[in-house]
Amino acid sequence: MMKLFLDTANIDEIREAWNWGVIDGVTTNPSLVSKEGRKFEDVLREVCKIVDGPVNAEVVSTECEGMLKEGRALAKINRRIVVKVPMTSEGIKATKTLSSEAIRTNVTLVFSPNQALLAAKAGATFVSPFIGRLDDVGNEGMQIIGDIVTMYSHYSYRTEVLVASVRHPIHVIQAAKLGAHIATIPFSVLKWMLKHPLTDTGLDRFLKDWERVPK
Ligand code: G3P
Repeated sequence: MMKLFLDTANIDEIREAWNWGVIDGVTTNPSLVSKEGRKFEDVLREVCKIVDGPVNAEVVSTECEGMLKEGRALAKINRRIVVKVPMTSEGIKATKTLSSEAIRTNVTLVFSPNQALLAAKAGATFVSPFIGRLDDVGNEGMQIIGDIVTMYSHYSYRTEVLVASVRHPIHVIQAAKLGAHIATIPFSVLKWMLKHPLTDTGLDRFLKDWERVPK
């Protein structure tokens, strides 16, 4: 089954999307958390009460030791928390150690298939290629999703491909067609996925016609 995560730290959006019953987890990052103007830990505790699935929370240290300390503390908050670690040599070392301690990790800020290969070798639970940001600089972001899915499929890596920096519904379709395990999407994209003008006009017509049915 393809999983959909919500890419936000906003509680109202998470609650609403969770109630739709189609969301499997949540991803946050320091930028999304800073938009909320609340303490990180408070936000995480609240999200974990709503979402029965992985809740991705990012470390901000740049040295392995600091990442480990933060990661272990985040993982203690709730068993749903997955520790997001940046794709650097320090981050890869931290990923290896955290995964050996059975703490789930998500290697983020991934922009190439080789980075994704290293994340898998370090034992990451998820790898997060940032598609929209590659598109922003004139690369075909979705191409690396196909490459990573193909590369992983030749071996027994358990790392799941989590398509991130999704900007529009077509990204979601492309991710699903390429067999990515997960797409993390802003709430706006989830709403666009739901909408079609023919659904609205069709429903309108059904309801109007129903009024003429003798009661
Ligand atoms: O969660 C990370 C990623 O999804 C960020 O997306 O739109 O800021 O490139 P964006």
